[in-house]
Amino acid sequence: MNSLLRRAAPIAAAAAVLAAASTAWYAQAGPTKPAAETRSIERGRYLARIAGCNDCHTPGYAMAGGKIDEKAWLTGDKVGWQGPWGTTYPSNLRLVLAKMTEDEWVRTAKTAQYRPPMPWFALRDMAESDLRALHRYVRHLGPAGEAAPAFLPPGQAAKGPVIAFPSPPAPKRSAQ
Ligand code: HEC
Repeated sequence: MNSLLRRAAPIAAAAAVLAAASTAWYAQAGPTKPAAETRSIERGRYLARIAGCNDCHTPGYAMAGGKIDEKAWLTGDKVGWQGPWGTTYPSNLRLVLAKMTEDEWVRTAKTAQYRPPMPWFALRDMAESDLRALHRYVRHLGPAGEAAPAFLPPGQAAKGPVIAFPSPPAPKRSAQ
């Protein structure tokens, strides 16, 4: 009996150490996000990369082959897109989405029409679960950066660099 107790003691001691360690870990890490939410955030990160959002809304992303620190993702761009519509600037989505609830975002994405070259029709056609995933991802990144420059109407000169679209040729008129 005595020897059995002696053998059990180190095991009990080890168990106590383990329990203390896991309590300490939990106190440090805090409650973890539910698995479904983590999956949704991951899906949002994936969409930001493959649906083109980073290409325009993250400064330098396309030029750097996507090698831009995630901290700067979707913070908008000061390079303007100029064409017959005027000059538009990719918005800072980190600030825009921080002001919208998930439901407001879904409603906006399904109905809003933005100026070129923003592919608003891609947002309209996106599955609701993907729109929610994008919102969760951007909210997970948190607000950062400054607002993008304001839209300039046609004919108004831009202060910074622009990507100029050629004006489309005038539509052909029929002879009759
Ligand atoms: C080809 C470049 C381009 C791509 C790709 C692009 N955007 Fe944009 N986006 C813009 C520009 C430019 C504007 C500003 C349009 C305007 O002024 O009307 C804009 C505006 C927006 C706005 C309006 C925000 C506000 O200010 O209220 C949202 C939301 C948005 N984009 C989301 C996205 C998402 C999400 C993706 C990826 C699915 C995406 N964009 C892909 C260029 C782009």
